[in-house]
Amino acid sequence: MPNDHLTAASVEPPADERTPEQLLRIIFDYTAKIANEKSLSNVLLHMADMGREMILADRCTVWLIDRRSRELFTTVAHGVDEIRIPLGTGFAGYAIETGEPILIEDAYNDPRHNAANDQKTGYHTKSLITVPFVGNDGSILGAYQAVNKRSASSVFTNRDLEHLTLAASYAGKSLESVMLHEEIAATQRDLIVAMGEIGESRSKETGNHVKRVAEYSYILAIGCGLSHEEAEQLKIASPMHDIGKVAIPDAILQKPGKLTEEEFEIMKQHTLIGYSMLKSSGRALLNIAATIALQHHEKWNGAGYPHGLSGEDIHLYGRITAIADVFDALGSDRVYKKAWELDRILALMQEERGRHFDPALIDVFFEQLPKLLTIREQYQDKLISP
Ligand SMILES: [Fe+2]
Ligand SMILES: [Fe+2]
Repeated sequence: MPNDHLTAASVEPPADERTPEQLLRIIFDYTAKIANEKSLSNVLLHMADMGREMILADRCTVWLIDRRSRELFTTVAHGVDEIRIPLGTGFAGYAIETGEPILIEDAYNDPRHNAANDQKTGYHTKSLITVPFVGNDGSILGAYQAVNKRSASSVFTNRDLEHLTLAASYAGKSLESVMLHEEIAATQRDLIVAMGEIGESRSKETGNHVKRVAEYSYILAIGCGLSHEEAEQLKIASPMHDIGKVAIPDAILQKPGKLTEEEFEIMKQHTLIGYSMLKSSGRALLNIAATIALQHHEKWNGAGYPHGLSGEDIHLYGRITAIADVFDALGSDRVYKKAWELDRILALMQEERGRHFDPALIDVFFEQLPKLLTIREQYQDKLISP
């Protein structure tokens, strides 16, 4: 097996246990790798490798709890695809439920062993260790499981159990912080989509407006050289540009004709309201959304609202969303107007180059037009019969 840790040992007869130097080296190497890892599946893979190398196990898996489906699951590791079992079953379920580690010499003598998996995979489980993982608040996050010792007897010892417990405590903190990070990011995404849809339904904008604006923003961001990560953030945040409309009266939002001056003053407030709704969270993604809500009606020549900013004083995300939003609004039916033909829309986009819109971004817009039109086609509004 091509592995640094084994090179030193390979000239000596196979040993059942690591020397203290080898153990330290393995722990040192893997905890450094795990601490630098941002993706949950990679953390789990490194943990499985670390456990296997430390105690010379044939296989090592990390079980996590899926509370929503009340299952335990393992990710792909050491030749095993994802497995899901009901919470509370098997050795892992037992260790997680009781918080106690398990050391078994022969799994087939124990009623908790589920032989069905062995039958399916043709693998023979003999000796096994399962150690629960505890998070910062004392709650159990999952379990570490090692199967079959790579030694003549194939049986794990109490020392192996101690070492795997050690591995669990070293890796547990990093695992918990990566899980928390993923949870927060997922929650933010869900909230943003939900809130964007509220703004959309209040102003009775056409069904897929926010989705198209999100996709257009992504394409324009990539087109002007932003990284995939940045473009992705913009795509998630831009659907919230009109969230402040939740506070604007229906009589104004749904007025079929032109707004009076006073009504327009009230309408303009949706930018400031959206900004103040989003800005206080301090989360990066919501900060971006706040800026977009505030600036999506600013114009390159300073004639926009609410602050009359001009040129690059308007955040790039605000300038991108302005193009995406107007391009889409012109092509859609609204309470106050019919959808425009594409030619007329494109003529206006060009005419407003350097006036409403950032000239460099309008160039990107025309370069990316085929992709934008594909999105327009793909997320068409459903025709509703009158
Ligand atoms: Fe708006
Ligand atoms: Fe909009």
